[in-house]
Amino acid sequence: MTQEWLPLPGTPVEEIDTPAIIIDLDAAEANISRMQEFAREHGISVRPHTKTNKSPYWAWKQMNAGAIGICCAKVGEAEQMAAAGIPEILIPNQIVTKRKIKRLMSVASTTKTIVAVDSEANVADLSDAAVSQGVEIGVLIEVNVGMDRCGVEADSAAKLAGAIVKAPGLRFDGVMGYEGHTVAARDFEERKTEALRAMDRLLSAASEIRKAGIPVNIVSAAGTGTYNITGALEGITEIQPGSYIFMDGDYLEVFNDFQPAMTLLTTVISRTGDRGVLDCGLKSVSIDRGSPYAVGIDGVEVGRPSEEHTKVVLTGDAKSLRVGDNVSLRAMHGDTTINVHDYYFCVRNGKLETVAPIVGRGKFR
Ligand SMILES: Cc1ncc(COP(=O)(O)O)c(C=O)c1O
Repeated sequence: MTQEWLPLPGTPVEEIDTPAIIIDLDAAEANISRMQEFAREHGISVRPHTKTNKSPYWAWKQMNAGAIGICCAKVGEAEQMAAAGIPEILIPNQIVTKRKIKRLMSVASTTKTIVAVDSEANVADLSDAAVSQGVEIGVLIEVNVGMDRCGVEADSAAKLAGAIVKAPGLRFDGVMGYEGHTVAARDFEERKTEALRAMDRLLSAASEIRKAGIPVNIVSAAGTGTYNITGALEGITEIQPGSYIFMDGDYLEVFNDFQPAMTLLTTVISRTGDRGVLDCGLKSVSIDRGSPYAVGIDGVEVGRPSEEHTKVVLTGDAKSLRVGDNVSLRAMHGDTTINVHDYYFCVRNGKLETVAPIVGRGKFR
């Protein structure tokens, strides 16, 4: 399918059709380098979670900066990344049902693949499929580190490791635990206390498994908000942050260790008195963590978006906004906004450099 309407490199940002995700390339690249530098200084690896960016364009930038591989939340995302040649993929999530496991093994037949498990039944299903499709797949035990989502309790990990070691087609690689309940705590000390408590559980699972005589090569954890807490902890071998690459409105309330790199470019389509209407809505920006806010301009109060409209109340200089003018917004939640767009419009010095397809969008199966 031709996409003749896509703007050419060199197009000024204000000529890009809206609503459009604009990425400040300098900021996103600096974020990637900064995370990698932190890891290098602490002797750990980065396996960025690409559930945020959903795009091989960014995954390759992360790999080229030194990441050892990437994470994908779903098999559908992993299929896209494997097709783009990403050499190592961890799915830090449970893949169940015959249909999905078969697709997972197909990914594993072309790309080094690791998957998380938290039950013996799943281990048996993965092993059967690996044998019948003639592949080997790496397995991490997910430990419940306090988020109470998936994962076994730390004291059951050694038993599950024993089952994995005996399962043909599976390679036991280690453990993972995501301290998602702590990553967005606004107060650093609170974040640190809770993250360290969570990591006690993960490290104790690793130690129980080792006591059973089974080597644990990977101990994987952390999101953006805990990269420098979990990532500085003895015994953690790698971190899996995702949001740091662009930093959304929510994460910017946690810290400014990384730069905001993503905005949603919109256009004023109607003006009456102190009211303006923007051409974005629930179909182009998510509000699960609150309404977006305007950046680069004062006096634009953003209301709750409806499907394709967002009302704004204008005060001061913002009253000079006219129909056709642009307003840049910052989404409070980047991942769920990115998931409804086809492209990143990547900009440097105010000009379009690249249009990068978001091939992982909607790949939630
Ligand atoms: C398993 C897992 N690892 C890592 C991350 C990355 O977290 P963050 O968005 O805080 O960087 C997530 C986020 O949901 C996750 O579910």
